[in-house]
Amino acid sequence: MWKPSQRIKYAPTPGFWPNQAEARDSQLFQPITYQALTLRDRTWVPAMVPWRALETGEVTEDNVDWYGRFARGKPGGLVVEATGIRDVPSGPLLRIGHDRFIPGLTRLTDRVRQESQGDTKLFIQLIDFLAVRRRPEPAKFLNRFLAITESHRQALGLENASEEDVRLALQKLSPMELSEILTTREIEALNYGQRERVTDTHLPHIADLPKQLPALFAQAARRARTAGFDGIELHFAHAYTVASFLSRTNDRDDSYGGCAEARVKLALEIIDAVRSTVGRDYVVGTRILTEECIPGGSTIDDSLYYAEQFAHQGLDYISLSRGGKFDDAKQPKVGWAVYPYTGPSGYECMPQYLSDEFGPFGRNLSPATVIRKHLHRSGSTVPIIVAGGIHNFDQAERAIDSGSGDIIGFARQALADPDWFEKVRQGRGNEVRLCVYSNYCEGLDQKHKQVTCNLWDRSALNEPCKKTEDGKRRLIAPDWP
Ligand SMILES: Cc1cc2nc3c(=O)[nH]c(=O)nc-3n(C[C@H](O)[C@H](O)[C@H](O)COP(=O)(O)O)c2cc1C
Ligand code: SF4
Repeated sequence: MWKPSQRIKYAPTPGFWPNQAEARDSQLFQPITYQALTLRDRTWVPAMVPWRALETGEVTEDNVDWYGRFARGKPGGLVVEATGIRDVPSGPLLRIGHDRFIPGLTRLTDRVRQESQGDTKLFIQLIDFLAVRRRPEPAKFLNRFLAITESHRQALGLENASEEDVRLALQKLSPMELSEILTTREIEALNYGQRERVTDTHLPHIADLPKQLPALFAQAARRARTAGFDGIELHFAHAYTVASFLSRTNDRDDSYGGCAEARVKLALEIIDAVRSTVGRDYVVGTRILTEECIPGGSTIDDSLYYAEQFAHQGLDYISLSRGGKFDDAKQPKVGWAVYPYTGPSGYECMPQYLSDEFGPFGRNLSPATVIRKHLHRSGSTVPIIVAGGIHNFDQAERAIDSGSGDIIGFARQALADPDWFEKVRQGRGNEVRLCVYSNYCEGLDQKHKQVTCNLWDRSALNEPCKKTEDGKRRLIAPDWP
């Protein structure tokens, strides 16, 4: 992962841990109700992909155990990982693009309800993504994948040669010579792997996204309701399809690109379709970016406008993240796929302990405050969920107090210690295992390996427990005795 050049070391701080009565009276542990959303308190675990589904997208027992373990700590809200709304191969990631996924997802919701005794509300993040191919062997790319065009022939002076001869000639060129003959997109496909964009409107399936996506999201939301989820979260953040429509980089020449009004149109159509399918009495939230954190990308001005549009469209909550884009991601190794959390924008999304003068704790709080204030001024009190490096009670309480958010997201902190919420509620915060923001977990995510926290192994590797495929790591956080 990219790191700021300053490389200042930060360590998490326990801060002040409240006793049971102080926790009960705190803002963090007050209930919240807005439209269809009711939470027992303002604690939240944002979506985190654990790489535990079947290759066919179904829920495994490991998925059920993973969410069951989070539920035992009883956060107010828990969001199931980004789950594909189409039934297309995407590795061991959950899918909800067909009714055949409903029974597995129902097992998962049952387990969460049972483990949390009904105290945790469970949501599922619905995602659409475009095709991203692995970085190819250069010879294979030039031999097989590259579509030979007239412009290649002309540049090589091989107008009448066979395709095979053109490919052979290309293979003899140096990288510098190749860069003069191939287009920018072809060079990108060679060096990073081919990646579709929402602006590839010459491809019929990309041109048709606005026709397809509202119904796909709506059907996925229907399945989520049938499977017993308390609500759905529309994934409009990071590097994925709808976020790419919202991005300032979207210059589609139909009515879905260009100005902000056009870029938000698809997202609003998706919300409409989902709402008319699941009704007003079901929680429909979204995750968006405060800032894309890439050159030429969306800024806080765009998110103010989007948040206002979504709030007035009747969403039940808005969860704020930042960065996490393909645009500035690192070049992957041959055979690997580009990963949107490896560049500066990825750092903004999941900052780690080596940081700059702003540090890794609460980088998204200031823009979240601006958005929440703007919404209040426009007459909306839609709950704002904010996350990013929050690990102790003081930070959470201050974030609510200063108006950065109504609900506080603890992603990696909940991974390091899923019992954070119960420990603090019971006045036993001093027993919390603090996340050190090493990003060991994020590195596993990048390699598409089962995500775990290395602090679990340090504290209880030898306790009997199911292990990862390589047999070296605990698959689940240790119990809190
Ligand atoms: C292993 C891992 C997987 C993640 N998967 C998702 C995801 O599926 N959807 C999403 O919106 N964010 C995802 N995130 C980002 C987190 O939800 C969160 O925004 C980020 O980690 C910053 O919050 P934190 O500092 O509390 O960890 C993931 C983060 C990690 C560490
Ligand atoms: S591996 Fe554990 S300690 Fe390191 S960032 Fe992830 S959750 Fe935190």
